[in-house]
Amino acid sequence: MSAETIKVDWEVTRYEVAEVEGIPLTKKMCDRWDKVWAFQAKPDDLLISTYAKAGTTWTQEIVDMIQHDGDTEICKRASTYERQPFIEWVLHETLTPGWEQAEAMPSPRTLKTHLPVQLVPPSFWEQNCKIIYVARNAKDNVVSYYHFHRMNQVLPEPGTWEEFLENYMAGKVLWGSWYDHVKGWWKAKDHHRILYLFYEDIKENPRREIQKILQFMEKDLEKDILDKIIHYTQFEVMKENPMANYTSLPPEILNHEISPFMRKGAVGDWKNYFTVAQNERFDEDYKKKMAGASLTFRTEL
Ligand code: A3P
Repeated sequence: MSAETIKVDWEVTRYEVAEVEGIPLTKKMCDRWDKVWAFQAKPDDLLISTYAKAGTTWTQEIVDMIQHDGDTEICKRASTYERQPFIEWVLHETLTPGWEQAEAMPSPRTLKTHLPVQLVPPSFWEQNCKIIYVARNAKDNVVSYYHFHRMNQVLPEPGTWEEFLENYMAGKVLWGSWYDHVKGWWKAKDHHRILYLFYEDIKENPRREIQKILQFMEKDLEKDILDKIIHYTQFEVMKENPMANYTSLPPEILNHEISPFMRKGAVGDWKNYFTVAQNERFDEDYKKKMAGASLTFRTEL
């Protein structure tokens, strides 16, 4: 695989935000949205879709391990973002955007997106691609997203925790409303080949959830290989894996000293951030936004 070494020879500034059909995305993505929308999926593509910070990288590593029968050396051939292109992402004009990385890749391809279901390039539906969607409870998701905005020097300034939480509840963050995202994909799973998983379930019982992924991918693995995948993809191990922990990106872009990408990997960390008042307000608003949805999340294990 031809890994493109990312060197920062430009002035790193936080991205401007624009919108596509009312969904906030970086202006760099919006400016080239026609390319994203025209992306040509192939029938054997596997798409990993998530709201940002829901456990994308974790799922990507599990899938790569499955595809390579638990061969850790092969899975260390390149960084997560090189192995599985992030289709809508444009880091900088001088670098290959996600959709072009995907185009240059031989099949079968595994791709990543954070797009809400209505913005997924139509060819994924036309080609009836398999999609793994992972959702994480809103409270842990927002805490993780806040810290990611602090450490990722190209994302918009998060402001204070209080401000970020307000923006998140209002859907005024990149990739839009968490509530609409998880609900939109939940509905879509009834009509498309979508495996809908929860971060909390994987954390609670990785064996059971990885088995669901295996079945969905129509793969069968020996028990010792499954054991190896469970071990290799646990938080403490992935945190030390330079090909999975995002330390291969230059510190000008991701500053792990502010907050590591592999931060806590836990369920329930939100309790360390939400005040009692914030929690009450959040719960009240949550009920309204999620009313009628047959979708439930666990905020603790
Ligand atoms: P925290 O910030 O709560 O620690 P994404 O890959 O979608 O950006 O999600 C990142 C979040 O998933 C981070 O959450 C990160 O620590 C967590 N994560 C990554 N690998 C994990 C693993 N193997 N087990 C549990 N959580 C993991």
